[in-house]
Amino acid sequence: MKRLKAAVIGTGFMGRTHLEALRRVEGVDVIAVVGRKLDAAKKLAEGYGVPTALDSVDDLLKLPELDALHICTPNATHYPIAKAAIAAGKNILCEKPVAVSTAEAEELTQLAAKAGVRNCVCHNLRYYPMVQQMRRMREAGELGEILVAQGTYSQDWMLYDTDWNWRVEAEASGPSRVMADIGSHWFDMVEHITGLRVASLSADLAIFYPTRKRPKHSVESFTGKLPSAEDVEDVKVETEDFGAVVFRLGDKARGAMTASQVNAGRKNGLCVEIYGTKASVIWNQERPDELWIGNRNTPNQIIIKDPSLLLPAAGKYADLPGGHSEGYDDTFKQVFRRFYASIADPSAQPEYPQLADGLRQMRILDAEMESAKKRGWVDLA
Ligand SMILES: NC(=O)c1ccc[n+]([C@@H]2O[C@H](COP(=O)([O-])OP(=O)(O)OC[C@H]3O[C@@H](n4cnc5c(N)ncnc54)[C@H](O)[C@@H]3O)[C@@H](O)[C@H]2O)c1
Repeated sequence: MKRLKAAVIGTGFMGRTHLEALRRVEGVDVIAVVGRKLDAAKKLAEGYGVPTALDSVDDLLKLPELDALHICTPNATHYPIAKAAIAAGKNILCEKPVAVSTAEAEELTQLAAKAGVRNCVCHNLRYYPMVQQMRRMREAGELGEILVAQGTYSQDWMLYDTDWNWRVEAEASGPSRVMADIGSHWFDMVEHITGLRVASLSADLAIFYPTRKRPKHSVESFTGKLPSAEDVEDVKVETEDFGAVVFRLGDKARGAMTASQVNAGRKNGLCVEIYGTKASVIWNQERPDELWIGNRNTPNQIIIKDPSLLLPAAGKYADLPGGHSEGYDDTFKQVFRRFYASIADPSAQPEYPQLADGLRQMRILDAEMESAKKRGWVDLA
């Protein structure tokens, strides 16, 4: 069987995470790492035994043997890199949010369809086994008709005005920060579980720190280090620290969510609660192997991930037996495995989020920003 050749662009949090997960996908070799700085690319490539390190995407695209590339760079760079890769006929796996505007996401979706390349947007959080269990329970009718979806995505790593990251700057992040960065994961998950689409929404976005202190040298995501006063400069902030959204889901269901990067103590607190006419399910990313099932007339349950006890379609997303925890890293492996299987077999149906799903999240994001600006409800097409 031909082994597929992959490359990773970006040497930060996601660059490393993708590289590690790729090494656990059968039939795939990583042949190149691309960084903005050649030193960083070399260091990462050498550590993982990747033969080539580059500082240019153009040079990467000249490698004829390359099957697919992973775009793990700041949001504003996704569009130009993806567009060049599609033009070169390469399959792309792009981090979320797919772009910084709906127009960019639309164009990429059309270009990929025309070029016939496989395309994936990394909404990996769908692929926790217990999230799949929620989806399969809904498909099997075990929840009844969905009435309510609610929850939060809460983090604390931007709580202080000295906390800084490229995501603060609209030039790198796009016009939204929190809703683009983590709100998009929440809405992708809720639409995936319920099979319903957000039909309209009303959003309130807040910037608690109108200025933040930017380090004079670059910092990587999630390092949590506090810089000294002489090493920082005041910068006006244009991206939100917090968002709250009330929404309608499909024809009937209703929902509400918050997303925040200033909630002390919440590290990666994604919580989704789905309430149906028969039962409800609640899942929290910080305890990923547990699923709470709520019943009206029988005792509530907490079920623990065990592939032999999950619904069969959900069990396929768990590689380890019950009692052996699977987490965040494993969701990437599940996405990548399906992406590369679809490259190996051109007749395979894609079982992963695609550019069209990334575009969908950009439309929700646009509606949130429009709603917050005009302080009113916005309908989605
Ligand atoms: N799916 C997820 O769970 C998840 C989690 C975190 C981040 N992300 C996404 O991944 C992307 C990267 O985020 P991160 O947290 O890894 O950021 P990061 O700051 O840790 O790393 C970004 C890297 O990109 C490099 N870079 C910047 N511009 C570049 C360019 N033009 N060419 C090549 N390299 C360039 C930087 O030097 C840095 O190494 C973002 O789009 C983010 O939204 C997704």
